[in-house]
Amino acid sequence: MSPSRVLAPLPQLEATFKPDIFKGKVLFCTGGGSGICKAMTEAIMKYGAHAAIVGRKLDRLEASAKEMSQKTGQKCLPLQGDVRVPAQLQAAAKKTMDEFGRIDFVICGAAGNFLAPISGISENAFKTVIEIDTLGTYNTVKATLPYIRQSKGSYIHVSATRHYRGMQYQAHMSAAKAAVDATSQCIAVEEGPFGVRSNVIAPGPIGGTEGIERLSKKEADGSSVSYMTDDSPIPLGRIGSVEDIAAAAVFLFSPAAIWITGTVLVVDGGERHMSFDVLPYPRATLDPQSVKNMIAAKL
Ligand code: COA
Repeated sequence: MSPSRVLAPLPQLEATFKPDIFKGKVLFCTGGGSGICKAMTEAIMKYGAHAAIVGRKLDRLEASAKEMSQKTGQKCLPLQGDVRVPAQLQAAAKKTMDEFGRIDFVICGAAGNFLAPISGISENAFKTVIEIDTLGTYNTVKATLPYIRQSKGSYIHVSATRHYRGMQYQAHMSAAKAAVDATSQCIAVEEGPFGVRSNVIAPGPIGGTEGIERLSKKEADGSSVSYMTDDSPIPLGRIGSVEDIAAAAVFLFSPAAIWITGTVLVVDGGERHMSFDVLPYPRATLDPQSVKNMIAAKL
């Protein structure tokens, strides 16, 4: 009989870090109203920080801020803003300063994505993803850098792993995230002498998020196929959880990571080393119509 598979347990944050490591600190997080960024925000608040979360949907931000404040006992400020609009980010950063008097940590997390082939994606669609992911990161950094220099603070940029190789239907996201990775390295080099750190977290497939839903293959009737299940070829044996990414963020902002900058922390259970694609290859690229029910793209 073959041995049964070991599935990695979830991270045990409470058993790993002291509860007050972020006492008196303030986090500014774009995309913090949902998914991975919300989980990172909540974990950092749990360790004593107040937070401001920025996004386009105010009602979702308000509900998330209330929930996270109740759970952690820390303040959370919901701020409406589109990362594509520099003035809105500058206003959000100023409101955060007015409310809390400092910003120590910034998560550049807002992102946009969908599956679309290079032959079919419109100029505006490609540009939109670059504007949200790449320019959105630049705009967030520019709006917060004066405050982060003051606090000798730290950036985390949320990237991806799919652009390490070529992938069907993901040219826009790959271009955008490669630029994010490169930008973070330059921030690390330029701002290190001011005491500022900049790192990237590259999540693998994370269950229950909008991102995984958008990138999941669909059945012919349009229902989701969980192509990443516990049977998937992920070395650590399970799909990721938002807690896995939150744990990485706590580590990177913590004093334990004080000499870590300009790096990419891949949090994917080893998935990037495995070779498979979301869509059938090369059928999806030769005949996009063959996958029209499997994705939400406009072919
Ligand atoms: N396939 C191909 N093109 C698409 C698309 C899809 N699934 N969805 C949108 N587009 C195109 C639109 O057609 C439009 O191009 P056009 O003007 O040539 O028609 C362009 O992208 C912009 O779309 P629009 O809906 O106007 O932009 P938006 O600013 O409202 O939304 C998106 C931005 C498209 C990235 C949207 O998916 C979004 O808001 N995503 C945020 C959440 C998210 O993606 N989370 C997962 C992160 S991993």
